[in-house]
Amino acid sequence: MDALRRMEYRGYDSAGIALVGPDNTIHASKKAGKLVNLEAELDESPLPEANLGIGHTRWATHGAPSDANAHPHVSASGRVALIHNGIIENFAGLRAELEASGVGFRSQTDSEVAAHLVGREVDNGLGLADALRTVSQRLEGAFTLVAVDRDEPGLLVASRRNSPLVVGVGEGEMFVASDVAAFIEHTREAVEMGQDEVVEVTASGYRVTDFDGNETQGKPYHVDWDLSAAEKGGYDWFMRKEIHEQPHAVADTLLGRFDADHRLTLDEIRISETELRAIDKIVVVACGTAYYAGLVAKYAIEHWTRVACEVEIASEFRYRDPIITPRTLVVTISQSGETADTLMAVRHAREQGAKVIAICNTNGSTIPRESDAVLYTHAGPEIGVASTKGFLTQMAACYLLGLYLAQVRGTKYGDEIALVMTELETMPAKIQAVLDNAEAVHALARELVDEKSVLFLGRHVGYPVALEGALKLKEIAYLHAEGFPAGELKHGPIALVEEGLPIFVIVPPQGRDQLHDKVLSNIQEVRARGARTIVLVEEGDTEVEPYADEVIRLPKASTLLQPLLATVPLQIFACEVATLKGYDVDQPRNLAKSVTVE
Ligand code: F6R
Repeated sequence: MDALRRMEYRGYDSAGIALVGPDNTIHASKKAGKLVNLEAELDESPLPEANLGIGHTRWATHGAPSDANAHPHVSASGRVALIHNGIIENFAGLRAELEASGVGFRSQTDSEVAAHLVGREVDNGLGLADALRTVSQRLEGAFTLVAVDRDEPGLLVASRRNSPLVVGVGEGEMFVASDVAAFIEHTREAVEMGQDEVVEVTASGYRVTDFDGNETQGKPYHVDWDLSAAEKGGYDWFMRKEIHEQPHAVADTLLGRFDADHRLTLDEIRISETELRAIDKIVVVACGTAYYAGLVAKYAIEHWTRVACEVEIASEFRYRDPIITPRTLVVTISQSGETADTLMAVRHAREQGAKVIAICNTNGSTIPRESDAVLYTHAGPEIGVASTKGFLTQMAACYLLGLYLAQVRGTKYGDEIALVMTELETMPAKIQAVLDNAEAVHALARELVDEKSVLFLGRHVGYPVALEGALKLKEIAYLHAEGFPAGELKHGPIALVEEGLPIFVIVPPQGRDQLHDKVLSNIQEVRARGARTIVLVEEGDTEVEPYADEVIRLPKASTLLQPLLATVPLQIFACEVATLKGYDVDQPRNLAKSVTVE
């Protein structure tokens, strides 16, 4: 149950466990709703003690969140219990085949077919591991499967294709999970599983094979963060804790990036500098918040490298037959490293011969493993479903990548790169200053908690910040919010503006930037139509005050780096509004942290 609690952020619409008892019986319990419902059920009807068990928290794909659709699913004869993450794309045909042979289904899930298929193989005499290997070969789509058999009470087997699975190696105890957070309390020794592999786990060890049964090697690694990183540490929400961790997280992302020759380095690079010099186009691919980090990256990368940079939503990328060649550099951004849409984009890009660089926060996850180079963000585990430190560190990593490419391609002199690096290194302290002066943002949240709609405006890199501010408010406070490029408003959306509508505006730095004055005009346009303007502006800029109903001051920064500061009040605002509304900030409705289905 402790492990499930740590994994709940990945899905929380139902949960269940199954134990293999010493009496060679499977004891299962499952409940719709959050984990507390299952806990209450187990208090009422406890299961017997056992040495082997599996558990699951679900994010519904096929079939509504209900007790019946919760995992584990038990095979027709009752021998096998199985849990599944992902989507089995050929489940309909398999279900028809099983039904034709007389199997009755108890749920609407795609997962139940896997339980019956494995059950049928063991009923026909295969051992559990062979049964799972055989069945895994028949399944299409994405799956991590974990299964137990009441007749092999010392064995647990798990397989993976396109979904995460790690093994935790303890002393006299073993674990498997989607994420090391589940077992970090017990062991920090983990083993990464490759694509299309099966692991057989007993109390004393593990064995990895491919789906044909050939022995392979998992990749052992040591998890270098401790349990406290995965706990709230006195904060009411993980999200609030993670917002406050941002100065550290950004500093860690920037740390140690210069080698002895004052040259920038990435974490793992399997692309030669010659190849990087030959690149004629960069395409950044990501989802959600990570996509907005990509939008910021475009401004920095094009400005510093003079290479055309496109940014694309990963779920759209491969289906439009994008023009990708061996001279395209694809950059993926993913906090989890497991987002299915982004992973599929990586595979598509590599099939076209492109090189892929992954910006990622999760060591050993699938996307960096399948990429040609990796730049880790070193933010520590992000558990709040709404990404915060993930976003800031992704932007920081994008700046590093832009500078790195400029260095390799010679589009910036070394001293120019050093100048930006020096400014980047001042950013953690400035982020801290924003956090330390957030009282006005809290007050604003109290005033605006009952609003029905909020708009966010920005230009240049302020535009992705506006999009991110709106997304945060939508996803955790369930409040209608939109982000627009400030100059685009007059082409339509300004019709939304009515008396009292709150509009956040991100103002670029004064003086150094012609956009500053354009944004001031945009503020006046909405104010003239009755909007209540909340203006994020750098300290010392007083020009905006006559047109602002509220002013949020930001430390000074250059235009390109300002998103590292301007995002923070918007995160705090969303967190505060959601808290005041009494919502579960860390586990907003309908969402899950790692979206491992397409
Ligand atoms: C928003 C949020 C999502 C993720 C997106 C990509 O707060 O968390 O929009 O940014 O699902 O996730 P990763 O970065 O794990 O690929």
